[in-house]
Amino acid sequence: MGVEDPVLVQQLENLQIDPNFVLPPEHRPTRKYNDYTAAGEQVPVIDLSSLRRSNKNPGEEEGEGEEGSKRSSLIHEKLVEQVGKACEEWGFFQVINHGISLSLLDEVETNARNFFALPLEEKLKVRRTFENALGYYDSELTKNVRDWKEVFDFTTRGVLELPVASSGNEEQIHVYKNQWPENPSTFREVCEKWSKSVEGLAFELLGLIAESLGLPATYFHKYWLPDDSNFIRLNYYPKCPVPNLALGVSRHKDGGGLTVLVQDEVGGLEVRRKDGEWIGIKPQRDAFVINVGDLFQVWSNDKYKSVEHRVVVNENKARFSVPFFFNPSQSTNVAPVPQLLGENLPLYRQYNWGEFLQTRKGSNFKNLGVENVQIYHF
Ligand code: OGA
Ligand code: NI
Repeated sequence: MGVEDPVLVQQLENLQIDPNFVLPPEHRPTRKYNDYTAAGEQVPVIDLSSLRRSNKNPGEEEGEGEEGSKRSSLIHEKLVEQVGKACEEWGFFQVINHGISLSLLDEVETNARNFFALPLEEKLKVRRTFENALGYYDSELTKNVRDWKEVFDFTTRGVLELPVASSGNEEQIHVYKNQWPENPSTFREVCEKWSKSVEGLAFELLGLIAESLGLPATYFHKYWLPDDSNFIRLNYYPKCPVPNLALGVSRHKDGGGLTVLVQDEVGGLEVRRKDGEWIGIKPQRDAFVINVGDLFQVWSNDKYKSVEHRVVVNENKARFSVPFFFNPSQSTNVAPVPQLLGENLPLYRQYNWGEFLQTRKGSNFKNLGVENVQIYHF
């Protein structure tokens, strides 16, 4: 990234900051990390408690018999409608009463905190490499600018199979494996517990989103079975002395199915509202942030757009977040769902998810001189 202003160059040198962190002026943050007031309308918050009730005892709290089940199906319809509206208008929403225990969340946070606090040489023992895309990494390039963050990636299944960018015709699959640090000693167990419970929630959300499009609740489930490519990322955003010049993650869209994210109380996640304004998502202890990724944009033929978001960092507090990227099997071919087209022409050609993911992962390691590969390349 060319930083040319001599005053800025000197400032960065004094602070010993890599100029690759500096964003072009038009992409720098405009609001402070914890400013939620100026923007007006906020990302919707959706209460999932009716899912918990209907899973356990159908109709129980809505009353007995036919009346009760009529009432609970009305409540469900209302929920599906809220989800659909949020996907269409924002691409993002928060959920509360999601059924995941907050004490487990505490454990994840404590373990993440302790892991990232280890000396760099310890963390580098589980470093992500070109051969193994899972593990610790500290200099991800989004849109070819360095992100002000450290990450640790692992998958729900322990492995991630991806096609190798092949020169010939024969299909080659590369298998990445989870790598676990020795310390903290509880790290692996807690991460695995977390991934199992969030996976359950992600399937429920997948069902609600399918229903909101007018499809059967399990319509998309088949793409996740038997070998999804879900992965979880622990994000650590250290304090940043130049929060007006850098971002924790610069603007991007999530390429997969959907993302279920928890964040600590610090704040900094911003979402691009339809009018172009960047809106901060105010952290709420018991709320998870959900967004639909590029796959839903394609499946729904642009009804549900994958929305840009970014992370603002700050001088005062380090921040943690844990996104769960809920992604289908690498063999999934993605194209607009025929039943959803109606009179419209498909806006996307079919593409293979595994090949897409492979290209994207590779782009984190090299500055290829092009922006992140996005769906419009297909
Ligand atoms: C991501 C992301 C947001 C956050 O990792 O893709 O958008 O709040 N993270 O950390
Ligand atoms: Ni993201």
